[in-house]
Amino acid sequence: MYVTPEKIRKLADEKGYIIVAHNYQIPELQQIADYLGDSLQLARIVTRIDAKKILFLGVDFMAEVMKVLNPEKKIIVPVRYSTCPMANSLTVEDVLKYKEIYKGVPVVVYVNSRTEVKAVADVVCTSANAVDVVKALDSDTILFGPDKNLTSYVAEKTGKNIIPIPGETGYCYVHNYVKDSEIKKMMSKYPNAEVMVHPEVPKNIRNLAHFIGSTSQMEKYPASSKANEFIVVTEVGMPAKLEKLYPDKVFIPVPSMVCYNMKKNNLRNTYLALLEEKIEVTLDSELIAKARKAIERMLEITE
Ligand code: 13P
Ligand code: SF4
Repeated sequence: MYVTPEKIRKLADEKGYIIVAHNYQIPELQQIADYLGDSLQLARIVTRIDAKKILFLGVDFMAEVMKVLNPEKKIIVPVRYSTCPMANSLTVEDVLKYKEIYKGVPVVVYVNSRTEVKAVADVVCTSANAVDVVKALDSDTILFGPDKNLTSYVAEKTGKNIIPIPGETGYCYVHNYVKDSEIKKMMSKYPNAEVMVHPEVPKNIRNLAHFIGSTSQMEKYPASSKANEFIVVTEVGMPAKLEKLYPDKVFIPVPSMVCYNMKKNNLRNTYLALLEEKIEVTLDSELIAKARKAIERMLEITE
């Protein structure tokens, strides 16, 4: 079956689906999205639109955040097992164990976490607002997970005692393993380029950056920079989004930074998802209510 982006768009319109996609999707899928952004931005946009049926293109925890904030909407995805290994690295048992050891210490979990984990946390954060969320909490010690690199970035920025949970095993393989030699080589090849990095990278890579920010913050930075070229140190899907926003500037991807789970969605399975409407995101209502509390606490702090 030969599927074009136009064919998917037509079917979505016929069936009344809105297509919502994360910035790391392949360019052909970015092109057909009604909304393209980071996970929380998208979940919040969906709360404000009328549509009852959403096709979500991203990974599972993101689809679940969308469901938590929009329980009345039908949310379908192309692939059941498109997941985020980092999100899965922190379990409910881990969180309960740390809560027991550090009694009374607030637990902040990154949006890249299981919904069950959000349900036992005090507050959720994204890479865009992690520093603000931690600053706003009335405690100098914070339990924070699952990303150890984001933890060290937040500790640096807030001066607080941030305890990483689960610890050394919490990281994103796409961002954690990027080599500084690869980035330095690109910097010599493009001497006028600025380096933008996602806070999921380790400190030695953050040290090379002109700008550190989430994908939503990366969308804004080029407008305020005089540079015309940018090395984009995050998943390879991001430069396509930036090129659309800034057609006069050049965005260079780091070839090794591929999230294979994000790339499980393709034109064929996206078309089939709309045709069959089989893989729907479903969550228990009690779980939705608990996870929603921690997300809403973040929204109160950062809005
Ligand atoms: P953003 O929240 O910056 O879009 O990042 C999501 C993610 O999965 C990073 O790897
Ligand atoms: Fe998870 Fe990393 Fe993929 Fe983001 S890029 S979805 S953190 S594995």
